[in-house]
Amino acid sequence: MKFSIKYSDLDKKNTNCLVFGLFENIEIYGSLKSLDKQSNGYITKTINSKEITGEINQFLVLYDIPDISAKRIILFGCGKQHEFNVRMYKKILKKSLKIIDQFPIFNVNYFFTELNVEELDIYWKIRFAIEAIQNTLYCFDKFKTKKSKVFASLNNIIFNIQRNDDILYGETAIKHGLAISKGIKYSKDLSNTPPNICNPSYLAFKAKQLSLKYSGVMSTSIVDNNDMNNLGMNAYLSVGKGSKNKAIMSIIKYKGNKSKSSKNIVFIGKGVTFDSGGISIKPSLNMDEMKYDMSGAAVVFGLMVFISELNLPLNVIGILAGCENMLSGKSFRPSDILVTMSGKTVEILDTDAEGRLVLCDVLTYVKKFNPDIVIDIATLTGACVVALGNDVTGLMSNNSQLARDIETAGYQTHDKVWQLPLFQEYYGSLESNVADINNTGGKVAGAITAACFLSKFSEKYVWAHLDIAGTAWTSGRKKRSTGRPISLLSQFLLNKLGR
Ligand code: BES
Ligand code: MN
Ligand code: ZN
Repeated sequence: MKFSIKYSDLDKKNTNCLVFGLFENIEIYGSLKSLDKQSNGYITKTINSKEITGEINQFLVLYDIPDISAKRIILFGCGKQHEFNVRMYKKILKKSLKIIDQFPIFNVNYFFTELNVEELDIYWKIRFAIEAIQNTLYCFDKFKTKKSKVFASLNNIIFNIQRNDDILYGETAIKHGLAISKGIKYSKDLSNTPPNICNPSYLAFKAKQLSLKYSGVMSTSIVDNNDMNNLGMNAYLSVGKGSKNKAIMSIIKYKGNKSKSSKNIVFIGKGVTFDSGGISIKPSLNMDEMKYDMSGAAVVFGLMVFISELNLPLNVIGILAGCENMLSGKSFRPSDILVTMSGKTVEILDTDAEGRLVLCDVLTYVKKFNPDIVIDIATLTGACVVALGNDVTGLMSNNSQLARDIETAGYQTHDKVWQLPLFQEYYGSLESNVADINNTGGKVAGAITAACFLSKFSEKYVWAHLDIAGTAWTSGRKKRSTGRPISLLSQFLLNKLGR
């Protein structure tokens, strides 16, 4: 799909299709009003005859409009102006694409940019539009023998803007929107890939492949089973012991800022390519969805794509903590005591609380990068889904400034997070009578106690943890990866650069 900006140019010849949004009970305005004048009131006549009232989900295709050179105009109902918000704006875009797809339309000029959406400026309207459109176009049919044939004709989308001054903003929005969408696409492809293919070494292969593509600024190194042994990463290793697919940690380094003073931002993604629960095996219902337990790693992967696409002048290290949690005679077990890389000992009470075991050693490992900020992204706890549901990511942090910055990016992008507290009171549940800590944290506040566990390994730097167990994928028969929270984290980085 090609995207571009056009400074109001209604009389463009050969335009396939002009697309407008229409609110209920308010007079038409902007470019639609101009077209109405040009066509001698054709559009108001149509509206007055109640062919369309502006109700949500309505649409009307108009052909051969008097004195208008465009072949068609499509009007989409947007409901009541005062109820219109970003979610509805994205929905209307999605819906409009599906309808446009039913016609032999190659080019569309979208005038949705003229809709009033929660005071969004032109940058955000276009950026959200690109993300919504690319999201709608996404399809994972690599393993289908019959490929889907949607959006066969449409290949060119033009956003109309009314002010000359907005062109630059619009173009930046397209650039950013496309880079984010590309990151999301790469991330979804990885997450959706089944675990018989996407195992820890596949993650490493993908990381290597990516750094070849961006070889000027990116390099990937691998920490394998042997290296982990030498480093004493026993918690991480233990989780992978039961699987024939060995644990592999992929380290993707992006160097976009050569100045000496520039510090590293580190992203760590939980990359459990399948979480059976191990000896503390999960119930079989929906266990298939545990292929998504590597979504944190996929988010980091997508984020690296985003950064490289825009050539951001930052130094970022992305870690894919690949591992598979399986059952066998070699598996670790409840009651085992592990010595982590940090030296702290952990009593295993449940082998299904494996994410924190993988992450704790990585959190220790990354100290060597002298990081400015460390953010881990993990499908860590079912408890987070209970607490916040499927629309909001859990945020926990040892630094209030970092937490604010992540929240801000969440609000800006509508990729929302909600912070949960790491009060001292919660740490009691990590106690063990035989080791320094246990790995489950008891029956209540599971999302928080999991983060408390991680915080014990990230005391030396500014750190935040994003629990994406509820937001990384959509469950059920149409299960699919969401690519969240790539929008948020991309924006977090753009904000760092003041863009
Ligand atoms: N990967 C799961 C968390 C999860 C569960 C994500 C459901 C999405 C949906 C994680 O490894 C896990 O199993 N956590 C346990 C921890 C418990 C044993 C302390 C959980 O949440 O039940
Ligand atoms: Mn688990
Ligand atoms: Zn897990």
